[in-house]
Amino acid sequence: MAERSNWGSKIGFILAASGSAIGLGNLWRFPYTAGNNGGGAFLFCYLLSVIVIALPVLIAELSLGRFTQRNPVGAYQAIRDSWLWKGVGYLGVVSGLMILSFYSVVAGWTVGYFAKAVSGHFSGITPEKAAEQFGGFVANPWLQIVLLTIFIAMTVYIVAKGISGGIEKYSKLLMPMLFGILLLMLVRSLTLDGAGAGIKFYLTPDFSKITAGTIIAAMGQAFFSLSLGMGTMITYGSYLGKQEKIPSAAGWVAFLDTAVAVMAGFIVFPALFSQGINPADQGTGVMFNILPVLFDKMPLGFLFGPLFFVLLAIAALTSTISLLEVPVAYYIDQKGWGRKKAAYIIGAVSLLFAIPSALSQGPVPFLSKLPLINRDFLSLWDFIWGNLSLSIGAFMVAIFVGYIWKSKKAVAEIRISSGFNWAPLWEILIKFICPILILLILMGLFL
Ligand code: TRP
Repeated sequence: MAERSNWGSKIGFILAASGSAIGLGNLWRFPYTAGNNGGGAFLFCYLLSVIVIALPVLIAELSLGRFTQRNPVGAYQAIRDSWLWKGVGYLGVVSGLMILSFYSVVAGWTVGYFAKAVSGHFSGITPEKAAEQFGGFVANPWLQIVLLTIFIAMTVYIVAKGISGGIEKYSKLLMPMLFGILLLMLVRSLTLDGAGAGIKFYLTPDFSKITAGTIIAAMGQAFFSLSLGMGTMITYGSYLGKQEKIPSAAGWVAFLDTAVAVMAGFIVFPALFSQGINPADQGTGVMFNILPVLFDKMPLGFLFGPLFFVLLAIAALTSTISLLEVPVAYYIDQKGWGRKKAAYIIGAVSLLFAIPSALSQGPVPFLSKLPLINRDFLSLWDFIWGNLSLSIGAFMVAIFVGYIWKSKKAVAEIRISSGFNWAPLWEILIKFICPILILLILMGLFL
């Protein structure tokens, strides 16, 4: 087998893995999901999901990847060659393609909003005008398709160039910059008149509001945000050197990712409440509706606005790269394709699948309100691939690592390079707590 390329350094891995984790999931998906699911109640379920379910699964995926040195299909196959586990690997490959499709539509919005920010579209804006602006923007089908295509093309270009030459280089500088600008936005939002109501909404969990739907949304969001349940972290782990410490790398990635999501809530909710907007009535565009208003009220907002949208687009790009990398690694390892060919073909396929999502935010009646389901196509795709499929995938990873590969062997793999005092607790989590909780939560869907 050809020598597998490795991350240049430990910090390179943490940056690349958090680059995959941190993206639109934190800044676009988290605020609207939290807003539609009771704010504080959601935050509470989310944090619990991250610690109890997602972090153990992250450690499992990374160690499985490093041990097998394969893409997800190959990783399962290397340990247990059966149709079931091959199928789980395929599900991951398909999910990567499908998440990439709707994700790139929203990523295209960030590019469009960069252009709006640069050209002064936010100055003197009111919440009503912001909503009108967003509505007009997403309803323009050609613009949507052009932006989407630009985004997928950038992703393909970087993935075609390969692991450390491509992915790592781009993550290093820009993530800390995004962090810095988020801090400034946080300060501005928290000091707006009426911000207190937003903080209260976000931090006071109303436990009576927690339903099966809230819990499913929170767990799915934890998987989505940490890029779990479809093999991204198996693939990234396969590029991880044997000297790297998996528990601390996993801890850092989970911590940084959660910090950004929590910050996004502290930016969006105070800003919404200060404008008298109830987050529960907001759709998927909430971030694009409120941030222009926030930038308009910020000193040097005309500078920070464009800068924020560029950084957000880059954060989205480091995530789409990791989404495309899974199917690409599969076609390279299992089918012997060249990296370029794999990246171009899969990129083109996901562009085709993205078109219904791109058109679904506009006036096309069928796509924008699917009969029976009462959702638009983009949210439907997001729910199927970004929540259900990932939850099933995470469940299967827990079972696989716990019982097929066996958690003891995973612990041995982790201990090659690192102490792991939590090993007994982690084994209990991955063998019993995670699979049982995921199953129970998914069953809530049918109640
Ligand atoms: N985690 C990324 C975000 O929050 C999105 C993402 C990248 C992803 N790779 C993934 C989600 C794999 C699920 C699975 O924006």
